[in-house]
Amino acid sequence: MNTDEAKQRIDQLSSLLHNYNYHYYVLNESLISDQEFDFQLRELQDLEEKFPQFKSENSPTQRVGGDLTDKFVKVKHEHPMLSLSNTYSLEEIQDWEDRLRKSTLDELEYVMELKYDGVAISILYERGNLLRAVTRGDGDVGEDVTKNVRTISSIPLQLRGENIPDRFEIRGEIFFPLEAFHALNEQRASDGQELYANPRNTASGTLKNQDSKLVASRGLDCFLYGVYADENRFGAHFEALSAARSWGFKAPPEELRYVAKAKSVSEIMDFIEYWDEARRSLPFEIDGIVIKVNNYEQQEALGMTAKSPRWAIAYKFKAEQVFTLLEEISYQVGRTGAITPVANLKPVQLAGTTVKRASLHNADQIEKLDIRVGDTVFVEKGGEIIPKVVGVKMELRPQDSKPHVYISECPECNTPLIRHEGEAQHYCPNDTGCPPQITGRIQHFISRKAMNIDGLGAETVEQLWKANLIENSASLYHLKFEELIQLERMAEKSVNNLLKGVAASKAQGFEKVLFALGIRYVGETVAKKLAKHFKNIDALMKANMEELIAVDEIGDRIAASVLEYFENPVNMEIVASLRASGLQFEMEESDVPQLSTLEGASFVVSGVFTKYSRNEIKAMIEQHGGKNVGSISKKTDYVLAGDNMGPAKLKKAEELEIPIISEDDFIAMIS
Ligand code: IVH
Repeated sequence: MNTDEAKQRIDQLSSLLHNYNYHYYVLNESLISDQEFDFQLRELQDLEEKFPQFKSENSPTQRVGGDLTDKFVKVKHEHPMLSLSNTYSLEEIQDWEDRLRKSTLDELEYVMELKYDGVAISILYERGNLLRAVTRGDGDVGEDVTKNVRTISSIPLQLRGENIPDRFEIRGEIFFPLEAFHALNEQRASDGQELYANPRNTASGTLKNQDSKLVASRGLDCFLYGVYADENRFGAHFEALSAARSWGFKAPPEELRYVAKAKSVSEIMDFIEYWDEARRSLPFEIDGIVIKVNNYEQQEALGMTAKSPRWAIAYKFKAEQVFTLLEEISYQVGRTGAITPVANLKPVQLAGTTVKRASLHNADQIEKLDIRVGDTVFVEKGGEIIPKVVGVKMELRPQDSKPHVYISECPECNTPLIRHEGEAQHYCPNDTGCPPQITGRIQHFISRKAMNIDGLGAETVEQLWKANLIENSASLYHLKFEELIQLERMAEKSVNNLLKGVAASKAQGFEKVLFALGIRYVGETVAKKLAKHFKNIDALMKANMEELIAVDEIGDRIAASVLEYFENPVNMEIVASLRASGLQFEMEESDVPQLSTLEGASFVVSGVFTKYSRNEIKAMIEQHGGKNVGSISKKTDYVLAGDNMGPAKLKKAEELEIPIISEDDFIAMIS
């Protein structure tokens, strides 16, 4: 393919893929199969690697994320990002509308929108291309999060349609759809990681993550709520939103009543009343309704107060709260031994569901709020999955009430609890003898990202444990048909499936086995790093503190936990038994011979290369015994710079006096 043909094909594929994305993420309809989409995307990726001069920053390939961001650059907003005046009172909405009506003789029209509960974003487009995306920050200065925003599929990288201003800013709210949020938390639960508290904070944390690949994997979404174009081409906000929709933005749909016009306060009240109930079935969270004067001239005439425009107001829904009796405080023990206190409540209706239990978080929280059994407590359901106790109705406290005494022993195995310095949670240290920790660990062991044992679920693990058929994860490999078939609800087919699943899991690689062991703080990524570095379990078991922390990204906390795990004879027995059953405790030799030309040298690879793709270069570094690291630090040995390397990286490398080498220098080094 010659250069002209390549350019043509890149343009063609880009426009096809942009169009598929738009239909899929904005209009909710698929034009082609996933497989065909991936196929075309791969073709585009390959062409862009071969002809990097034609790769655009807004190419559909940028949706998957890429380089790490060292630091988010501060950017001043062209128009300050104001906030809205808020009220929880319908009367104040009425007063606001009255005031506006008295201030003008003209007829007023309003636009009512949902108040999405996420993070505000300002996105700049020039000649139909996404140029920059900046967070709200303090309203005057925000942070450049363009790379991360490019990965959000419903935000167009290139606009479509007509009458697009040459340069304009569009604002909206980035949020975590509930389904994606719950899926993320389920994954974290199965990995033994702490759960995220609510979708809003998680959206905000994700947007500021340095790894745009991680951002891409999270499934954030965005609704647009304001267009700022210098040319005064729209007379009113509603028109601007409709125009934005025609350019490919995800503006709120009218047919679902996410946005509507009103001419009177009673229509506003109707809209509020409707959403106060209907918000419960939305696939994302809102915390109120925003009412805006539609006409731009009228907006301008009304002007601003110090912080917010007079032409808009937000009605906020009260967090749904009820009070009920706290009957008992019980304690749950997780697979890592973490203790969670739980409030057992007199059942009560809250936000459409019956609530019987609520989280009390930890001992400090109980003490801070002075929560006691017998109290009437306030229970709130916000963005969190589990409702929480937020306060006590003191005037209803029984006279004989006594402060709650937190347990000092494990409710499951009576072992004295410990609390690590700086941590709020108590732990049961009896990790090899405490029943919920054992079954929890076995459940982790069989989970999809670990040994991926088909035919065996969490409930069956409980059942097997209760029937004394398993003692730990190693026992799974000794299960026999004859004993399983005698269990309740176990037919021949399910027994065979279970045994087949167990046998098949022996093919899982060393890094999966290491992750499956459930060593505290050894998640999927850490397990991969350890497996790759030590190559087999013997080397890992022999490693001391220094050797462990010498591994890229392994700190004191992880190293100490690994040492502690292998010091425990019960764990050593499990490992020995798993090994005897034939699990993989060694990295498979890769087909590529390992060389030592770059032994131990660390590289930061940045920019676009001409002879090899960035991934090929990274693989070559590893193949020659070198290490790839994400960001430049004092420890970096070389910065391997291609075209278009970021100026911030360049500056940092120069400041730290790290040699910057070219693709050719690198090829010379390894040949
Ligand atoms: S309009 C000057 N519309 O609420 C008015 N804001 O305090 C600019 N928000 O930080 C905002 N949904 O991020 C507007 N439909 C909506 C909104 C909305 C959520 C957020 C916004 C802003 C905050 C206002």
